[in-house]
Amino acid sequence: MPLRFLTAGESHGPAELVIVEGLPAGLPLGADDINPDLARRQGLNAGGRPYPGASPRMKLERDEALLLSGVMAGVTIGAPIAIQVANRDHDKWKGKSVAPMTVPRPGHADLTGAVKYAHRDLRMSLERASARETTARVAAGATARKLLAAFGVRVGSYVVQIGSVRADLSTLTLAERLLGAAMSDVQCPDPAASAAMVAHIQQAMQNRDTLGGVFEVVALGLPPGLGSHVHWDRRLTGRLAQAMLSIHAMKGVEIGDAFDNAAKPGTQVQDAIYRAADQALTRSTNRAGGLEGGITTGEPIVLRVAMKPIATTLTPIASVDLASGEPRPIEYERSDFCPVPRAGVIGEAMACLVLADALLEKLGGDSLQEMLPRFESLKRARLDDFDLDNTPTIFWP
Ligand SMILES: Cc1cc2nc3c(=O)[nH]c(=O)nc-3n(C[C@H](O)[C@H](O)[C@H](O)COP(=O)(O)O)c2cc1C
Repeated sequence: MPLRFLTAGESHGPAELVIVEGLPAGLPLGADDINPDLARRQGLNAGGRPYPGASPRMKLERDEALLLSGVMAGVTIGAPIAIQVANRDHDKWKGKSVAPMTVPRPGHADLTGAVKYAHRDLRMSLERASARETTARVAAGATARKLLAAFGVRVGSYVVQIGSVRADLSTLTLAERLLGAAMSDVQCPDPAASAAMVAHIQQAMQNRDTLGGVFEVVALGLPPGLGSHVHWDRRLTGRLAQAMLSIHAMKGVEIGDAFDNAAKPGTQVQDAIYRAADQALTRSTNRAGGLEGGITTGEPIVLRVAMKPIATTLTPIASVDLASGEPRPIEYERSDFCPVPRAGVIGEAMACLVLADALLEKLGGDSLQEMLPRFESLKRARLDDFDLDNTPTIFWP
């Protein structure tokens, strides 16, 4: 694992912090590379408007990255990169005593965290369990994105489903989907579905309820040969899936057309291999989602991620007051109604971190300068790479 990161911070504490370790020296990096992703995580679309259903907290805060170490004269120096993002909301809590919270909200770490860590005040677990922590991940992910971009790799996302409204993207290329998402209020490239999703969110808000959904994260321009088939924890398939499921409220992940494929016979599922006129070994489909045997094929990686509906609902959900032992519904705290459109960028960040790690693993090197020429060797498979005349025969003794 050449690239590592560690986050720290509580939702209403002074700041979110992240240390990224393992980025090579010589990569141009500044807060301007990080802040646009932080804005997207906050639910601001390209026009700076909040997505429908975003929490009012989004209007309070404009996250900004402060690079504290690892960058000098605008380039990385190979040292750990520390990034701080202030919690502007902290000012409202600073210097105040807060009454203990004793009614656990189902669907959060309120009860599980309190049981595990023997907390009596549920805020002691919920503060750290909050998805505010994803601010630090997105900041870290933006540094990994910058490294990938130096090799022509692009990572993006788009929404394919909100609640029961599903987009039809079958006629769009991945590049068209990314372009279309940027123009949609809910990050969905299908204009008709996008309008229906906005209406669906508004209806859920009126119903005092919340909605989940599905987004796809795609990586374009990856070379073949990242990851490995040889150990369970080196398979890139598993590493990407774990990264997606590590994000708050993500409950399902699919690689390529996995669930559709499960219903089909094998002959309709594998991506057949063809020899092109220039001897390159090519595919005309990418049902595998860019990975075979836990290794990149050179085709785009496609991950589909399912997010559960937010557990904090205006309509009270039954719970128990741990102070009195009596039944008591949850107390509403200001909350998102549907954060799916702003969750994609968190998926992108986690994918960038895993893919940059896999690239560093493959290429090695302490500086970008050292890595760039090595990248040139990662070409697509060609027939003339396979010299079978000089290959020894296997003999099992
Ligand atoms: C971008 C994003 C925003 C979220 N906003 C809220 C929110 O405003 N209110 C809330 O109750 N949960 C919110 N969540 C979800 C909770 O963090 C999540 O349900 C909780 O951590 C429990 O998740 P788990 O069951 O996956 O552990 C958000 C999640 C994400 C990814």
